[in-house]
Amino acid sequence: MSLANPSAPPAPTAPKAARHARFTEFPTQALLPITSRPEIVFTRGKGGWLYDHEGKRYLDFIQGWAVNSLGHCHPVMRDALATQSGLLLNPSPAYYNVPMIELADLLATRSGLGKVFFANSGAEANESAIKLARKWGQLHPNPSGGARFEIITFKDAFHGRTLATMSASGKPGWDTIFAPQVPGFPKAELNNLASVEALIGPDTVAVMLEPIQGEAGVVPATDTFLKELRVLTKSRGLLLIVDEVQTGCGRTGTLFAHQQAGIVPDIMTLGKGIGGGVPLAAMLCDDAFAVFQPGDQGGTYNGNPLMCAVGLAVMRTVSAPGFLEFVRAQADYLSAGLQHLSSRYGGEGERGAGLLRALRLGRDIGPQLVDAAREMAPDGLLLNSARPNLLRFMPALNVSRDEIDQMLSMLDTLLARHA
Ligand SMILES: Cc1ncc(COP(=O)(O)O)c(C=O)c1O
Repeated sequence: MSLANPSAPPAPTAPKAARHARFTEFPTQALLPITSRPEIVFTRGKGGWLYDHEGKRYLDFIQGWAVNSLGHCHPVMRDALATQSGLLLNPSPAYYNVPMIELADLLATRSGLGKVFFANSGAEANESAIKLARKWGQLHPNPSGGARFEIITFKDAFHGRTLATMSASGKPGWDTIFAPQVPGFPKAELNNLASVEALIGPDTVAVMLEPIQGEAGVVPATDTFLKELRVLTKSRGLLLIVDEVQTGCGRTGTLFAHQQAGIVPDIMTLGKGIGGGVPLAAMLCDDAFAVFQPGDQGGTYNGNPLMCAVGLAVMRTVSAPGFLEFVRAQADYLSAGLQHLSSRYGGEGERGAGLLRALRLGRDIGPQLVDAAREMAPDGLLLNSARPNLLRFMPALNVSRDEIDQMLSMLDTLLARHA
């Protein structure tokens, strides 16, 4: 198995207008404007690079928002798709299929959580976790006999865009946007145990958090906080749910981020990187909390063999000997490079774990840098600004030193321009 990205092919040489003549008029009127997209159409990707409709290439340090664990179109994923698509696409979730069984076994073994439910998105996996906790709270009511349903979540948390997961999220403004919220998600302060304790009441059934708040700007829960939370939840009869949709599957240098604190949650959710670019997510739980009965949870595509075959290929690659050591080495290299740029341009340092990192700019120039990076020539650079005062980096887990150097050099140029 090769850890390196397949080398990026040279930019195509055919005349621009002839190659993608149909993409000459922007914007299309047919898509709901759910985000303000730049006038670029991506036509292919390989490893760490994306190519647009005019043949311009972009070094990709977003990778589908921490999704493409192995970069664009990695051969193990292409092979898995090709093989599985010739065998079986969809027997229905009412039946077993081989990739579903193999991936469930691999995840259960690697996580120590005995039961797996497959979903299609991180939000759906989190909905499943919320439903499972509420079901458990019905079976283990409070002293007055009332079902326990409250799940303590955190300010600035991000758990998805369904109504329940938006309500569980602590994103500013989301409490009113589609009011009324789904009830039962009081918000504590991250890394403040007393704030969690203060919210525990007779209806509380669980605490749910991201080990690192990604969308909030790569804000880590400290190991001490995670350990104390584990002790607190156990002693108060509460479930601990970790949302590893962004941090899981090798992203932070261990298979799951919570492992770095030496804790084991009761429920864990995965998404994004598990599918490496195809829609796959999962909720895992300890056998003791596997209280769903047939009919409680499901979905048309759950455990779909095509997605699970790709997930299996990705997870086998990520958990192969040497892979996570490689991620940690690349992360150290990236971290040192970002720290250097921060010192040079008067920033406030960098933070994160593994290949989920943020550069704290000290000024609200993140969105400007993102636009300027994309417009660079001859190659563009794709960056994300999770908050206006920082940049977030989520390269492929097999990013090369050469790609990190290229990114740092391009960022150096940009920061010099915005100094
Ligand atoms: C921590 C976390 N949870 C849940 C989600 C939602 O995942 P999805 O967009 O696949 O529904 C995200 C997406 O960014 C996330 O970062």
